[in-house]
Amino acid sequence: MANLAVLASGNGSNFQAIAEAVGEGGHTLCCLICDRPDAYALVRAEHLGVPSHVVSYAGRKRTEAEKDILGIFRKHDVDIVALAGFMRLLTPLVVDAYAGRIINIHPSLLPKYPGTNAIAESFHSPDTEVGITVHTVDHGMDSGPIIVQKSLQRISGETLQELEQRIHELEHRTYPAVVIEVLNRLNGSKQSADQTRRTQ
Ligand code: GRF
Repeated sequence: MANLAVLASGNGSNFQAIAEAVGEGGHTLCCLICDRPDAYALVRAEHLGVPSHVVSYAGRKRTEAEKDILGIFRKHDVDIVALAGFMRLLTPLVVDAYAGRIINIHPSLLPKYPGTNAIAESFHSPDTEVGITVHTVDHGMDSGPIIVQKSLQRISGETLQELEQRIHELEHRTYPAVVIEVLNRLNGSKQSADQTRRTQ
């Protein structure tokens, strides 16, 4: 079985959707890490009984904060990391330590509209199709290899708030299932590595 950590900065609705689904595969959501003490995700974690940690970036280099994050990962024996509205770019210190094992959800059809304003940019675009992307994290911003994309047709007369809500609902239906798939895949490779060791 594999251990998952979630990193979030704000509301935490994707964190909650993951927390409610992850046990099904027999995996453990071992911790939530937030960079802000006022993140609503922390309240959700308390209600869900998920251990949480605040790692402040204030007044220090990103890599200093990330050393604390890596320490928490070690303490919980974390295998996979899911970013869920985490508003910090991870440096190679963390990305390389967990190469291929950090995933992110972004509310646009990447490579369109990376960055923090993706839903509004999708809304104001002439695109007839908008959507979400789950991808592996690399050194760039919203730039790693795509795992899955799901799209929605624009509805004429829809407001930004209505589109936002449809995008978030799509995220909640999609992200937990992808996280579980990634955890299952890792677990499968851990088991075959164990078997190889036993037969050597
Ligand atoms: C989501 O739209 C996600 O795609 C983006 O940040 C938002 C986080 O929302 N990366 P929440 O905190 O999970 O409610």
